[in-house]
Amino acid sequence: MKVIVLKNKKEVGDYVSKIIIEAINNKPNLVLGLATGSSVIPLYKKLVKEYKKGNVSFSKVRTFNLDEYLNVKKTQSYRYFMDKHLFSKINISKKNINFPTSNFKDYESKVKKFKIDIQILGIGRNDHIGFNEPGSKFNSKTRKVKLSKTTMKANSRFFQSLNNTPEFAITMGLGTIMNAKKIILIALGSKKAKAVAKAVNSKMNEKIPASILKKHKNSLFVIDKKAAKKL
Ligand code: GLP
Repeated sequence: MKVIVLKNKKEVGDYVSKIIIEAINNKPNLVLGLATGSSVIPLYKKLVKEYKKGNVSFSKVRTFNLDEYLNVKKTQSYRYFMDKHLFSKINISKKNINFPTSNFKDYESKVKKFKIDIQILGIGRNDHIGFNEPGSKFNSKTRKVKLSKTTMKANSRFFQSLNNTPEFAITMGLGTIMNAKKIILIALGSKKAKAVAKAVNSKMNEKIPASILKKHKNSLFVIDKKAAKKL
């Protein structure tokens, strides 16, 4: 696991987008694993900017999103987030976009078949990745999960109240994520400092889902100064 600390969120977005664009330019049908959340917005902004400049084409790129809520309004879904921040602004083909659904076994097989070249991750304040909450098995696969109260509280900012915040989701498992050839975790801001320090400095432990990334040969944390504060 390698850790790169940069000045701010713009630098983080620019850095990760450069890796992705180079990879697509070397392999136009690259398979990308994508995440949602505020941490990845600077990255998606930069990818859109570079696409508009003609520096990258997504026409053959295939994507697999990490997770999705169950039983939410369309506008609150992660699919909506992705359409808004990335898919509607680039030349990706709709048929190449993949999202987990309640048919999660099929999703697991499809991810296995196509093999993710680069998996982008955020990190939860309790060290979750995707929606793999503390206690998730290191060999877990795509499945339905119940969200912890901590995660629901953190996510309630996107819903009217905690009562309206979804309790269930489908997520790629930790085992699914670890099959990606390269993994890049993005963390921004001081609210993530504790989670980052735990993932980097603790022994691998199922109570700290992100600590599994230590075992991956090609995993990279790209974080800003504030998220690195407790390292
Ligand atoms: C949610 C998502 C995660 C994401 C996390 C952090 O829980 N399921 O995939 O990493 O939020 O989000 P943010 O980047 O908004 O802090």
